[in-house]
Amino acid sequence: MTRFLTVGGGGREHAAVEALHRSGAEIFAAMSTNNPGIGRRAAKVMTVSEMDVEAIVDFALANGVEYAFVGPEAPLGAGIVDSLRDAGVRCASPTKDAARIETSKTFMRELLDTHSIPGNLGHATFHSLDKALDYIKDAPYELVVKPVGLTGGKGVKVQGEHLLSLEDTETYVREIFDQDIGGAGVIFEERAIGEEFTLMVFCDGSTIAPMPLVQDHKRAFEGDVGPNTGGMGSYSDADHLLPFIEAEEKDEALTILQKIVDAMASEGCPYVGVMYGQFMLTRDGPRMIEINARFGDPEAMNVLPILSTGFTEICKAMADGTLNEDVQFLNKATVCKYIVPEGYGVKSVSGKPIYVDERGVKDSSAVSYYANVFLKEGVLVTGSSRSVGVVGLGDSIGDAEKNCEKALEHVRGDAIRVRHDIGKADVVKKRVEHMRQVRG
Ligand code: AMP
Ligand code: GLY
Repeated sequence: MTRFLTVGGGGREHAAVEALHRSGAEIFAAMSTNNPGIGRRAAKVMTVSEMDVEAIVDFALANGVEYAFVGPEAPLGAGIVDSLRDAGVRCASPTKDAARIETSKTFMRELLDTHSIPGNLGHATFHSLDKALDYIKDAPYELVVKPVGLTGGKGVKVQGEHLLSLEDTETYVREIFDQDIGGAGVIFEERAIGEEFTLMVFCDGSTIAPMPLVQDHKRAFEGDVGPNTGGMGSYSDADHLLPFIEAEEKDEALTILQKIVDAMASEGCPYVGVMYGQFMLTRDGPRMIEINARFGDPEAMNVLPILSTGFTEICKAMADGTLNEDVQFLNKATVCKYIVPEGYGVKSVSGKPIYVDERGVKDSSAVSYYANVFLKEGVLVTGSSRSVGVVGLGDSIGDAEKNCEKALEHVRGDAIRVRHDIGKADVVKKRVEHMRQVRG
């Protein structure tokens, strides 16, 4: 058995650990909270801040691990892969330099410009409040306002959606500078109109292997209203496309990611690990919204349960530079709904008991992944972030959605909620209709 270090304790990491476990890895898990799903698959667990690089490297060395897989972006940004590599551990995740593709939105936009990679959007970065306020007065298009640095997916505000007047935009820009949100200034982007989709790929520095497309739901409430969250749930289709997208458009998105990987190699920061591309499908084709240096959460929970190539082999191949582009997935649709604490997205009610009858979930053709939950005096309780991801599988999105709902009946808890609309036929149909309108 190959010894693997895993870093992270969310739903995404639970899904990754399950996939490593079922393909024969021995797991040594470093995480800040004691995810019970990861805990039971691990030979050893270290409860530690995921930013404590030194302690995690010591843990890896003490246990003779050969390979590492890092789930969350924050330790990547802190250079955990560089330190692990220096210590002789092979990593299926990006170095600090390569992770800039996520940790600096400006780096990403400029890389696309410099290498003439298609799919970029207009953008302008400012490090001073006055210049930023000047710019918004007569910007050339509707703007999306983002702190340049990491904000856990919650710092983005869109003109016409969250920002309904110039004053709203001004107030938010002031907030970013006054509170130093993201810590690196503000980037304004051209607002892209269309339907969003996620394309994730495995990457070994040069070769990429695509995963099925997924659509996430960022808004907190049904009908896509409310604050942006880390993601409330997501679905994928049996043909690995989405009902509103053509195969050629997926290929276009894949070409963009391949060009990014080539550009990073040519700039001396080759990209190794899972790369997450978030695209807007516009009337002119896919446009780049964001790149993450890791799996999406919840999107990892859609693709990993249907991965038929061994994840352990894939991780080794990414780390060793021997990835085969032909990674296999079952032709199943998936619908993932995240159970979250009430108030999640604004102010969560946490510390409430939650119970998952895993047998009942399994009998519903579904799987569940623990996320931000803790054992407190023997009782599983919710934290302030997302609690449990439930993923229904099926031959169509409709079947997968029904199975997800059946499985949700086997989760009980206080002060929890779910976006039930995710993957429902009328909601999917609305997106197809929206895309038809966008195409004109
Ligand atoms: P991000 O954290 O960059 O993924 O952005 C959060 C959400 O804001 C995305 O899921 C989009 O819905 C929206 N968004 C971000 N950038 C843009 C853009 N340039 N145009 C339109 N919408 C955007
Ligand atoms: N689901 C969006 C993300 O992981 O960033």
